[in-house]
Amino acid sequence: MENVISISNGLSNPSPERINSIIAGGRFTHTEMIDLLSAHRPETYEPLHAAALAVAREQTGDAVRLRGIIEFSNRCVRNCRYCGIRKANRALGRYTLTQNEIIACAEWIEEQGYGSLVLQSGDLPGEPTVVFIEEVVKEIKCRTSLGVTLSVGEHDPDTYRRWFDAGAHRYLLRVETTNPTLYAHIHSGTQTLKTRLECLDILRNTGYQVGTGVMIGLPWQTMNDLANDLAFFRSGDFDMFGMGPYIYDRRTPMATPALIASWNAHRDRILRLSLNMLAVTRLMMRDVNIAATTALDAMHPDGRVMALNAGANVVMPVVTPAEYRESYQLYEGKPGIDQDALESRDSLVHIIEQAGRTIAWNQWGDSPHYAKRTLHAV
Ligand code: 5AD
Repeated sequence: MENVISISNGLSNPSPERINSIIAGGRFTHTEMIDLLSAHRPETYEPLHAAALAVAREQTGDAVRLRGIIEFSNRCVRNCRYCGIRKANRALGRYTLTQNEIIACAEWIEEQGYGSLVLQSGDLPGEPTVVFIEEVVKEIKCRTSLGVTLSVGEHDPDTYRRWFDAGAHRYLLRVETTNPTLYAHIHSGTQTLKTRLECLDILRNTGYQVGTGVMIGLPWQTMNDLANDLAFFRSGDFDMFGMGPYIYDRRTPMATPALIASWNAHRDRILRLSLNMLAVTRLMMRDVNIAATTALDAMHPDGRVMALNAGANVVMPVVTPAEYRESYQLYEGKPGIDQDALESRDSLVHIIEQAGRTIAWNQWGDSPHYAKRTLHAV
């Protein structure tokens, strides 16, 4: 199968009738998923996105949920070949916010009425980090009424349990791709898809609401891979999704001169494919939370508005203090690094208004999917 970035526009060209009949049919087959993902003319992708938006409104309501994201450390032990903060990037100044700085951000998030926060960092195994995060979560839960999501990578079961007991109740860990060969290609030798999948299982068994997702437009990735990713989303019965385009970063080994040279030629296609992936996820998973990710905005000034119109229902305004933002660039052109938290808030309110949606102020905004699956489990 041809890789997604080299697919020419005319290659797979489902008709509007085909798209509408797949949407009406319910549970999608592998071939149907590929047809939906391939919708690239307005008469095919518009009905796809409109159907996904209707499901989002029906299942999660009109209001968009907010999570203030604090990128509290860019230190990382991993060497993911796509990521700007990989360990081998020695030119990057490393930072970790103090616990007090993180708590000040959390209090600001509460004052703004965001209702929830995400703590994100590089992967930092080891007892000092475990304790650091455990203490910070406890303190945030003590001082605020915010919902706390963690996005801090692969850890052992005991660590996930301690953070859950401290009060974190949601966890984001993207699978990145479910193709084991591609996974190995884009990561360093010590990272395996098997470990990532085990972590996702452990998180779920610990009791977290679990979010996952993939990058779209990775070198070597095929439409087959993306359809398999969608099947994995369904079989894993996840509560939340975050996905977006892969964007190169010149400081990483994946950004070869050939990839950079061909970038502009395929960026519109990858943006479209990312939005289609989001829309199909919404149609399949229905009552989950799906984020309109920043990487989409890096591809197009209205990327996140487009995502809300294709079925997303979560926006994550960055709250990281302005002086650290430049050091938390996972890819080139990350929007908002010249903004402060207030400007990020204004731009997010603007995005949501542009999409004609309301905002779920002062709520945790949990995934309705989680409530239903745990209800069935008792
Ligand atoms: N392009 C797009 N997304 C990226 N991420 C990391 N590097 C890149 C990149 N170059 C995403 C990964 C990770 C999340 C925190 O950021 O999917 O899980």
